Amino acid sequence: MKIAPSLLSCDFSVMGDEIKRMDIAGADWMHLDVMDGHFVPNITFGAPVIKWVRPYSDKPFDVHLMISEPLRYIDDFADAGADIITFHVECDSDIDATIEKIKSRGIKPGLVIKPNTPAEAVFPYLDKLALVLVMTVEPGFGGQSFMADMLPKVGAIKAECQRRGIDLLIEADGGIGEATIAQAAQAGIDVCVAGTAVFKAEDAAKAIAKLKAY
Ligand code: DX5
Ligand code: ZN
Repeated sequence: MKIAPSLLSCDFSVMGDEIKRMDIAGADWMHLDVMDGHFVPNITFGAPVIKWVRPYSDKPFDVHLMISEPLRYIDDFADAGADIITFHVECDSDIDATIEKIKSRGIKPGLVIKPNTPAEAVFPYLDKLALVLVMTVEPGFGGQSFMADMLPKVGAIKAECQRRGIDLLIEADGGIGEATIAQAAQAGIDVCVAGTAVFKAEDAAKAIAKLKAY
């Protein structure tokens, strides 16, 4: 199991140091939640901030765009140093054009589905994606409760990929910690995002090691 700490729960006054701390603690990827106050009710940070903190780790930067028009900003996030860009299938941009734009910049594309969106919504794009991110909370805020009823979507996506001979990663995001990681692992998730569980832990390295063990 790969663990991607969500910087949403970090101390933003020292975000670079927090990334370094997660790198040393054993994080596999850095998960960066970009919110525009329109697609979701919260605002976080954008490409300039990611560009500033990029030198603090060599680990892959997994940029999760919770914004209405991702296509308009792909170049900015590419220039900022994103390795993976995920955006929502519910957004207003053209999905195929956005995937193509991400790929044209040499970045791995991923599609995200909100809790009320069925797994089938990503089926038309599976052969073009590097990963699918299944939200296990309503996007917008950290620290919410894990929605175990989202896990059947993971099985549905995996079955469809298997049927079509497609190899991609499945990531889950929201409410993942010691109490819920076993369920996520059992469902076949490859990468788990964890904000609160890692940043609020007394010892981040121990917290990450425990989660990775699944
Ligand atoms: C929610 C974000 C998540 C969130 C996870 O909109 O996409 O990445 O920060 O935080 P926890 O692990 O606290 O649920
Ligand atoms: Zn996220």
